[in-house]
This record gives sequence, C-alpha cells and structure tokens, in this order.
Amino acid sequence: MTDAPRKILVTSALPYANGSIHLGHMLEHIQTDIWVRFQKMRGEHCIYVCADDAHGTAIMLKAEETGITPEEQIARVQAEHERDFHGFLIRYDHYHSTHSPENRALSEQVYTLNRDAGYIIEKEITQLYDPVKGMFLADRFVRGTCPKCGAEDQFGDNCEVCSATYTPAELIKPYSTISGATPEERQTTQLFFDLPRFEGMLRQWLDSDALQPSVANKLREWVDAGLQPWDISREAPYFGFEIPGWPGKYFYVWLDAPIGYMASFRHYCDKHGLDFDEYWREGSTTELHHFIGKDIVNFHGLFWPAMLEGAGLRKPTALHVHGFVTVNGAKMSKSRGTFIKASTYLEHLDPEYLRYYFAAKLGKGVDDFDLNLEDFVLRVNADLVGKVVNIASRTGNFVHKFGGRLPAQLDNEALVRDVQAAAPRIAALYEAREFGKAIRDIMMLADQANQYINDQAPWKLAKEDGNEAKVLAVCASALNVFRLLVLYLKPVMPALAEKTEAFLRIAPLRWEDADTLLRDHDIERFSAMISRVDNKQVEAMLAASKDTTAAAEPVKATASKKAAKAPASAPAPASDTISIDDFLRVKLRVARIVKAAHVEGADKLLQLTLDLGDETRNVFAGIKAKYAPEDIEGRLTVVVANLAPRKMKFGMSEGMVLAAGPGGEDIFLLSPDSGAQPGMEVR
Ligand code: 2FM
Ligand code: ZN
Repeated sequence: MTDAPRKILVTSALPYANGSIHLGHMLEHIQTDIWVRFQKMRGEHCIYVCADDAHGTAIMLKAEETGITPEEQIARVQAEHERDFHGFLIRYDHYHSTHSPENRALSEQVYTLNRDAGYIIEKEITQLYDPVKGMFLADRFVRGTCPKCGAEDQFGDNCEVCSATYTPAELIKPYSTISGATPEERQTTQLFFDLPRFEGMLRQWLDSDALQPSVANKLREWVDAGLQPWDISREAPYFGFEIPGWPGKYFYVWLDAPIGYMASFRHYCDKHGLDFDEYWREGSTTELHHFIGKDIVNFHGLFWPAMLEGAGLRKPTALHVHGFVTVNGAKMSKSRGTFIKASTYLEHLDPEYLRYYFAAKLGKGVDDFDLNLEDFVLRVNADLVGKVVNIASRTGNFVHKFGGRLPAQLDNEALVRDVQAAAPRIAALYEAREFGKAIRDIMMLADQANQYINDQAPWKLAKEDGNEAKVLAVCASALNVFRLLVLYLKPVMPALAEKTEAFLRIAPLRWEDADTLLRDHDIERFSAMISRVDNKQVEAMLAASKDTTAAAEPVKATASKKAAKAPASAPAPASDTISIDDFLRVKLRVARIVKAAHVEGADKLLQLTLDLGDETRNVFAGIKAKYAPEDIEGRLTVVVANLAPRKMKFGMSEGMVLAAGPGGEDIFLLSPDSGAQPGMEVR
C-alpha cells in the first residue's frame, strides 16, 4: 500500500452492566470485529474500542436487589462481558466502563461546552414520583391499565395490546413497578438539551452518506414530526455523574453513554501516546464508525451528532446499523430455549461457527437476522468442513508422503491466479460490510478448488510410481488456493487462520499476501483443523438455555415485534410434557396459612403468610375470588418451596401456593384435616 494508512476509530454499542451478553449482542460485536480485523489486515491504522454502559436506574436497582453496591455490580458484570466477548474472539483495542474518570471528565466537558454555547435549557416539569421508594420514576417503571382499551398491566408510555401511546399520567390505576405504590405528580426543574436548534445541521447530516438510506429516512420522519428538547438530567437517587452546578441532579445515562466511546478511546490514547484531539476535533480527517442496532438510531443519529456539534467536535463518519436477531424465525424466547447467552453457546459450540454463520448471512442492510439452527449446522458442515478445510485435508498428507515440501512448480497456475484475482473484489465487499457476498465468492472459489482436486484425484495418482512430482504440483496448487481462501476468511475465522499459518509455516497473513504464493516451501503435517457440528450440540445448547419458569419474554435488542408475530415462520411449540426429572426438581412442601390478607389495589390476590415448619414465607396467591382471608387462615396447603422469589407489583413473592382449578371461584386448596404437618415434603 502506497497511501498513508487510514486512521479509523470503530465502536460497538456499549452493553448495559446489568445483564448477560447474548447472541443479539454477538451479532453486532462479531460484525464489528470482522470489519476491524479486515481493516487491520489491510494495514490501516484501526482502533476498536468498547465499554460497559454502567449508569442508570436499572443498574442501581439491580445492585440493590442483589445486595451489593453499584460499583461491585458493574465490576462483576464487566468481567463477565469481557470474558464472553473474548470467547468469541472479539479483540477490542480497549474495553472500558462509562463509570470511569475519563468519562466523567469528558461528560462534564461536552456538557459545559454545550451549556456555554447556550444549548442547555432549564424547564420546570411534572414527573411521576414514587412516594414509597422516594424517587422519580422513568416511564418504564410505571405500569397500569391502558386508558384506551382497558388492558391491564401496560407500560407507562404505550399499550402492547392496542398500541396506543400516552403519558404515564394518563394510565388508569398507575403503579410503580419498583414499590407497587401509586405514583404522585411532582414538579421538578430539569435540564434539557436544545435539540430543535440543530435541525438544520441534522437535516444536512441525514442527507450525507453517513447513514444507510432506510435509517436516514426513519430519522427524517422524526425530524419532520418536530424535534423536542431532550431531558438530559435525572434526580437522585441515580447511579451516574452529578451535573456540575446542580447538586442532586445526574446526567441521564444516554448522555454519558456515547461519550463513553470517547472515554474508552481517551484511555487507549493515554496508554499508547496517541493524539486524542486529532480524532475528535471538528474537521478531523480521521474516521469514526459506530456499529449499532436499529433500536438506538435516534440516540446515535440525532442526539449524538447534535451534542458533538454543540461542543464543537467532529461528527461520526458513519453509523452502521443492523437489525435484530431472531432464532428459527421467531423472537428469542427463554421458554423455547432460544434466548441464548454467549456463555451458554461457548459451552457447547465453537465460536468460529457462529462468526461464520453470521458473516455468511450479513449484508449492509438493517433487516433482522434469522439464526436458523438447522441451516447453521448444515452450512458450517458443508462450507467450512466440506469445502474449505477439505482442500487441505485431501492434499496435505500427500506432501508429507513425498518429503514435506511444496515444489516451485504448480500444476494449475490458472486456478491459483483466479483465486488471487478475487482479492480486490472480496476486499471491496468487506469494506462495504457485504460479508455475505464476500463469503459466497470465497465458497465459489472453494468449489472450483475441490472440483480440481476431484479431477486430479491425487490419492489415485499417488498409488502409481513415477507420479511424485505431479502429485506434489497438484497438492501445491490446492494448498496455495487453501492459503488464499483462509486469508480471505481470516477476518471472520481468525483461529482457523492461525492454525493454517502454523500448518503452512507462514507468518500471520496480511491482505497484501494475496499477491504472493508459496513455492519451494516446507510445511507441517496436516492435522484436523475444525470438526463437524453435530445437531446434538445445538440441542444441548437449547436445553441449557431453556428457562422453564420464564413467563416474560426478553427485553430488547433481540427481536422485533414483527418477527414475534410471524406465525408462518415460527417453529412448532415446545412439547407440553415435562420429564420426571423436571418434575422431581419441584420441591413441594406442606404449609400452614398463618395469616391471609387483602392486597390493596389487587382484584385477585391475597397475601399469605405461610409457615413451612422451619421458616415463614410471604406469598401472593390469586385465590381471592374463592376465599376470604378468614376462611383460610389456619388451613394447610401445598407450596412450591424452591421457586425463585419473584418481585411482584405488591412485593416479593417467595413461593407458589398449589391452589389448582380453572380459576375464579373454582379453586381447590388442600383439605384442612389431611393430617399433614407444616414443612412435610410431599409428592
Ligand atoms: O442499548 C443499549 O444497550 C445501550 N447500552 C447502548 C449504548 S451505546 C452508546 F451510546 F453508549
Ligand atoms: Zn390499550
């Protein structure tokens, strides 16, 4: 390469520090990692940073629930995240945390620059307040009955049943999901980022080629609908950074999250002596690429460029937006076992299989990505084992049979030249994030090589005397093609590349090595490089992912509503039966109902205090239609004793009463004169 290397800074979205990495995250981080590895192989100066997104109410509450400090919570989760990403061969140049000194300094800086430029405004607003918990409530911590259709237990801002949107104040019987209390309206002063002032700049940015056309269109719709000032402050208690000059007010997590990209890079620069400002100043000639999911385009496509502009900094070169992951055509589901955590996948399958499958089906668009597990198995076996590695396994051993050295003379120069000639075409596809097309190209070349090996049949030639030179020349052709194909696949399959480099005794492959060939060169003996995937491994992974107690579907970043509603492509429902082993895991114990009480605001529930012999439990049971509290106090019932405690709207429920029946008044509790003792195990 004669040109000076490009200076490229690349990011993947920062995962929240309150949950595990799952295959939805992996799509994005694998996509980014492939692009970064490609740039590095090309000799570009490319730096890939990420971090955990550590702030916000959810993380604060999670820590509280676990009984640890938020700092402990985020440290624990970050270690887990880094381990999982590493397991998938994702190689960041630096992985940071938004709860870091660099991020505090940069957040304050970006904020004060915007404030001093007049882009921060104060507004008095009415907000819902949880009087029990003593905190203001974000919309998603308020639920209640939909004011439009009357559906119960809907979110604070939209109804999942009739799709109505509203404000939490409009909900009928609203309650705080944190304490169950009825929220009050309170006045507070909040700080807003004056987004409407950036409309002109944003329209220009949307017309630039920084965004995929469909993303730009979506964002244009929002701009057309009228930009609103953006609330960037949150009241204590909040886990985040306090806003300078506003004690007790904190930056909203989405303000300091993208600044976390800068913070991670700042840390990297300090460690490696790089000029941070060169990358962030207005007019910088370096490139800044953000890989994100389509659910967060408003933050990256509107707020983020506006905040950067307001602070006098450069805007991103490009946002690369991808769709959601579905599994077997449907939204990832805990009960079906398709909500697959990265760590569970790694316990059962090779990370490169998934890297390959993702790459093979990824394009530059924002369509949802379906991980079809049957297709996954077929494709990995057919392409990686049956096509690529097959080239080496069918020829490698013959080289050793005849001395272990590739000759200068190739039997089929034309084939090898064809494969070499594909390098610029494949490079252009990687650059454009058309990984699927690149893989298709590579597999077609692999087909040609296999056809050639079939035609030459070195195993037959080797049986007859006098064919040694011919066999070596055939194998040298095949192995040169193999080397080139592995080079082209290296951004996707770095471990396969490493094994190949050891087998061929070559230095780590760079893109420019496609110009050279191996002649007069000693190689190692061939040993297996990749094994076939077995359906059983996939089944075991699904079984390990299955959460039989899961009622709720996953939160976000995984699947679209559209996919969830696609019955045509949805797989058959999981079997209705459970094994005897499943059943035996359920611990049933006799309990005495020592106290039963009405629950304020609940139509169906009674709050029961249960004596299990050696302990007392609080359980909410939906038996109010049949039993008055006084009817059941003193009676015995059966309780599922090892059910994980569940946080309900009214408090923690520590078990489940086995009142069976169709519901309403038809509910059956255990007879009072059974002779059972509290605590007794029953089956
Ligand atoms: O949606 C999410 O998972 C966020 N934690 C992504 C943040 S990306 C960036 F802005 F920090
Ligand atoms: Zn509704």
